[in-house]
Amino acid sequence: MLALDQYRDAILQHLQEQKVKKEPINLYGPIDYILQLGGKRLRPILTLMTADIFGGDHKEALDAALAVEVFHNFSLVHDDIMDDAPLRRGKETVHEKWDINTGILSGDAMLILAYQLFESYEPEIFQKLAKLFSKTAIEVCEGQQYDVDFETRDDVTIDEYLKMIEYKTAVLVAAAMKMGAIIANAREEEAQKVYDFGLNLGLAFQLKDDYLDAFGDPKTFGKQVGGDIIENKKTYLYLKALALSDTKEREQLAHLFSVQPIDPSEKISTTKEMFESSGAARATLNEIESYTSKAFSILEKLNIEEKGKQSFRAFGEMLMNRTI
Ligand code: IPE
Ligand code: IPE
Ligand code: MG
Ligand code: MG
Ligand code: MG
Repeated sequence: MLALDQYRDAILQHLQEQKVKKEPINLYGPIDYILQLGGKRLRPILTLMTADIFGGDHKEALDAALAVEVFHNFSLVHDDIMDDAPLRRGKETVHEKWDINTGILSGDAMLILAYQLFESYEPEIFQKLAKLFSKTAIEVCEGQQYDVDFETRDDVTIDEYLKMIEYKTAVLVAAAMKMGAIIANAREEEAQKVYDFGLNLGLAFQLKDDYLDAFGDPKTFGKQVGGDIIENKKTYLYLKALALSDTKEREQLAHLFSVQPIDPSEKISTTKEMFESSGAARATLNEIESYTSKAFSILEKLNIEEKGKQSFRAFGEMLMNRTI
């Protein structure tokens, strides 16, 4: 087991070692830009950590870890187009810096580059990884489509929201971990448990992402604060605020989420007040804790050393308490 920073360094070094073709520059420039922009690198760290905790060697997991990170960054480039987002990791989004067509094609190329990284594995492991990756990637697309569909629907339920975030976000966190277990030759039953652990961490992670989108500090958050409110995203905050409000407030909030004013500042501030006064903000934080606890209870059933469980627990706590 290494410290988180050491895993992150190993991924960065592996990234630098990749020979990326430099031409056409408008294809590879944006890929380089987004991958060098930083980010927390949580998913590849989880892949490496899981490989080590299951008795494997994290170095063997580097290609899979990087595949997960490249796929994640591809999904962000396309997500920022779909969400009309100006900022990513404190810098201009790819489609703002270049244009939408460039973002589409560079994103497509990243998806293929991610797949290519699995080619270094022996057939048996390769097949398991590629199969898991394909299943996960198509689920992410499904989740992303639900997310967009929900923008213009006024009857989204909390169950539908939970399914949507499971697909757009949690399955990739889960798959990142299961890949580490696969590379370490863990038994399928154990690999499935670590997947379920990751899935619940991933749900907590997206709930926190939604929370920070409204209540994060603009100086450190790195994305446009209030972006979800501008785009009428049917987040847990919103759905819970509707559920906890009286008829008059419910109508006001529903109306706010049916319009897109040119200057959104008043819409954002009113919505945030309603998220707080209704108790939805508090309820969201409770839900984050509850999914994190659920993840920890799955951890108990894993057949690994206590030291490994402690590391996973510390990671879950860190995710829950993050501010970016
Ligand atoms: C952002 O993921 C997209 C979501 C699934 C919420 P991260 O918060 O992990 O983004 P980076 O990679 O650290 O920038
Ligand atoms: C993104 O969800 C999920 C994927 C990119 C697949 P969000 O749209 O909430 O992510 P951010 O907030 O832009 O990072
Ligand atoms: Mg987005
Ligand atoms: Mg989105
Ligand atoms: Mg978000």
